[in-house]
Amino acid sequence: MIYAECLEAELKELVARLSPDRLFVLCDENTVRCCWPLLASSFPALSPIVIPASDVAKNLTTLSGVWQALQQGGATRHSLLLNLGGGMVTDLGGFAAATFKRGIRFINVPTTLLSMVDAAVGGKTGVNFGGLKNEIGCFCDADEVAVSTTFLRTLDGKNLRSGFAEMLKHALLHGREMWAEHLRFNLAEPDLAALQQLVRQSIGVKQSIVAQDPHEKGIRKALNLGHTIGHALESHALHTKPILHGYAVAYGLIAELYMSVAEAGFPTDVLRQTAGFIRAYYGTPNIGCNDYDTLYAFMQHDKKNSGDHINFTLLSDIGQVQTDCRVSRSLVDEALDFLRDA
Ligand code: GLY
Repeated sequence: MIYAECLEAELKELVARLSPDRLFVLCDENTVRCCWPLLASSFPALSPIVIPASDVAKNLTTLSGVWQALQQGGATRHSLLLNLGGGMVTDLGGFAAATFKRGIRFINVPTTLLSMVDAAVGGKTGVNFGGLKNEIGCFCDADEVAVSTTFLRTLDGKNLRSGFAEMLKHALLHGREMWAEHLRFNLAEPDLAALQQLVRQSIGVKQSIVAQDPHEKGIRKALNLGHTIGHALESHALHTKPILHGYAVAYGLIAELYMSVAEAGFPTDVLRQTAGFIRAYYGTPNIGCNDYDTLYAFMQHDKKNSGDHINFTLLSDIGQVQTDCRVSRSLVDEALDFLRDA
């Protein structure tokens, strides 16, 4: 992990050290405009492979376009792909690199808060398939992840909140002090120096969990806190008004902490304070009780399930994780009621 003070120079040095025979850069339509110009002068004559920016394009067609660009550009097993973008670029680019000629090296340069603290770190790569998110993919670590605070300066409020939801999740998994620090953070007027410190802590929490269980056989399932209900809300919203991933995770955290109170003895005051923070900055999801069956059906498709059971990650306290928890359908409905009223 590199925390780059001067991204352009540090990337140039990193690429020189890895010494690829050919270098490729993957951008989306936004990062090619807003981020690539910050690096382009260090890599003259390099023309980025550009993919659409939307999650809708995180599919086999786009992936095939990247494979084609690598092939036409003469990529070999000694080539290197630099993924410059948010989670869509690092997930799809990572999968393209992991599978091209059975695997070429890649570097992730995350440009959104969400990708810095989550998607770019931990080796999950993939694309959406059959209407399900990240259905096809593999675990493959980037050769390096270069996090630059430069990109934090231009973050818009919605993307800041989206990334911060994953940070709040890491804080809940880690400990009371980190959780309290996150709840004190003013998302309406963010202090960038404080945010940088929180980002480092957050990446540290994720790295230490992933190091214990890279392939999600056990403790890495902790990182799914908020995601079973979060993914269902996100998938459901695709058919009405799409929401950013982190907003769905924030709502999922409220619902799954409610379930944690009922099933695992999680403290109610922590639920109340966390729900208050999320409500203040993220509002509430646009769902009614008529949507519960559809949401439940999405939960049944979750990758973490075994057999017909939905597996939830719950907490008995801040920092005390219980994985593979099964709960009744009526508790899920109650949690969704609480989320709507929170
Ligand atoms: N985003 C959860 C994980 O990387 O395991």
